[in-house]
Amino acid sequence: MGSERFDAGEFAAELQRIVKATADAVSTDGQVNPLVEKIFGHLAVEPTAVTMVTADWPNWEHVNVQRGVDAYVAERGSAPEWFGIAGAQRSGDDLMGLLTHARRHGFYELGTVDYATVAIGPDKSTEVVKLGLVNTAAPDGAPIVLCLRGADPRYGNQNCQLTVLAAERVTATAARERIEELMVEHDVYRGQVLAFGVSEHRGNELVTFLPRPHLGAADVVLPDGVLDLIERHTVGIATHGARLRAAGQHVKRGLLLHGAPGTGKTHTVRYLMGRLPETTVIVISGSAMRMINAAAALARRLQPSVVVVEDVDLIAKDRSYSPAGNPLLFSLLDAMDGIGGDADVTFLLTTNRAGELETALADRPGRVDLAVEIPRPDARGRAALFALYSKGLTVTADLEPIVAATAGQTASFIKELLRRAALRAITTCPEQQPVTVDDADLIAALGEMNDSASGLTRTLLGAPQD
Ligand SMILES: Nc1ncnc2c1ncn2[C@@H]1O[C@H](COP(=O)(O)OP(=O)(O)OP(=O)(O)O)[C@@H](O)[C@H]1O
Ligand SMILES: [Mg+2]
Repeated sequence: MGSERFDAGEFAAELQRIVKATADAVSTDGQVNPLVEKIFGHLAVEPTAVTMVTADWPNWEHVNVQRGVDAYVAERGSAPEWFGIAGAQRSGDDLMGLLTHARRHGFYELGTVDYATVAIGPDKSTEVVKLGLVNTAAPDGAPIVLCLRGADPRYGNQNCQLTVLAAERVTATAARERIEELMVEHDVYRGQVLAFGVSEHRGNELVTFLPRPHLGAADVVLPDGVLDLIERHTVGIATHGARLRAAGQHVKRGLLLHGAPGTGKTHTVRYLMGRLPETTVIVISGSAMRMINAAAALARRLQPSVVVVEDVDLIAKDRSYSPAGNPLLFSLLDAMDGIGGDADVTFLLTTNRAGELETALADRPGRVDLAVEIPRPDARGRAALFALYSKGLTVTADLEPIVAATAGQTASFIKELLRRAALRAITTCPEQQPVTVDDADLIAALGEMNDSASGLTRTLLGAPQD
């Protein structure tokens, strides 16, 4: 009350604090350490009385922490003036250690900021502060200092860390909370296609940006109605999400695409990514499955979103990360269940061994609400595939017998067959423009692929098992 009035007593106390803080910044040899002065002079608090509130994130969030901090400082009306810490051991010491050693022994000095480069898109990157500090204010105007630090696996530090230094804990907490809000608002991952991964090197968790594929419906050859059904369940629910929710319907959905290898499950997923241009897509597979909870949390944060889990049968068998008999598949199913029904999150699972999943899925119903078989193409489908994958070629061959001869084969078999025929055409008639595939080319290519010596190739292209 009446805080605008000049209060002599308060002023004296404040002055005393500043004097004391400065005195504290003077090390035993009587020199003021500019680093210590810059921090504690700004905070106007004794170094021993400062409160530190620290928040940690997996290092793949570093870019978002940077964005949150930048937005926060901008909101306070100033451009961030980052400063750094100089001193050989700075990476190995925590902030408390750095400041104590700077203050007491002059080990560290005011220096330049350390930067790291991080991706912000499939082919865009930016610099983030790897170790640096910035003086700013709390939402209530009290002085605070922010310290941002990226992971440094050399010192066993896997996380990105933000520390708020302030005189009062409530002040520091309020600043941290506001920064976290701004992180969500400025999240670099929103609307992107992301792959979660684990690097071989030290097992670091990674998030990489993938370009969003853009396929037309004509590029996906499936029996009538199949693609429509899939689109209705994904794009359709997304489009009418608000009305469905208002009508008390849940919008979270789980879709399982199953079928032989090479029939177009991944292809369909890629098509859907293009049909949902604003949607965040998170692709997770293999050993990155241990990050499923982080992926699900990110999906919830960045709605509308799709979580793609390819080849779920593989994780269904993998118990390596869960010796307690709680296989990764159950972690996935739990993560799917953990997201509220009103979340615009789609789980898109693919497998070529639906049978191996059935019991697990039946035991935990409600996660997958639509299972769609992606079948091998029928004669009409195969003819459409020949047409699709011979777009850049002139085909003089009579396709009817070839379509008949490829009964039971997959789309990827036909795609490969045409490439081989084209290669044969190019080698036999190098001058011909455009490349012209005739009967002989196709018959030779088919013979090659059906040759018993190509048994493994056929299996790889999804040939029916004998
Ligand atoms: N239905 C299809 N329509 C058009 N092209 C297809 C179709 N299916 C497959 N292809 C082509 O074959 C390639 C391989 O198919 P895809 O990777 O989608 O198979 P998959 O079903 O995911 O197999 P897997 O079970 O081995 O993962 C695709 O990139 C695409 O070029
Ligand atoms: Mg696939």
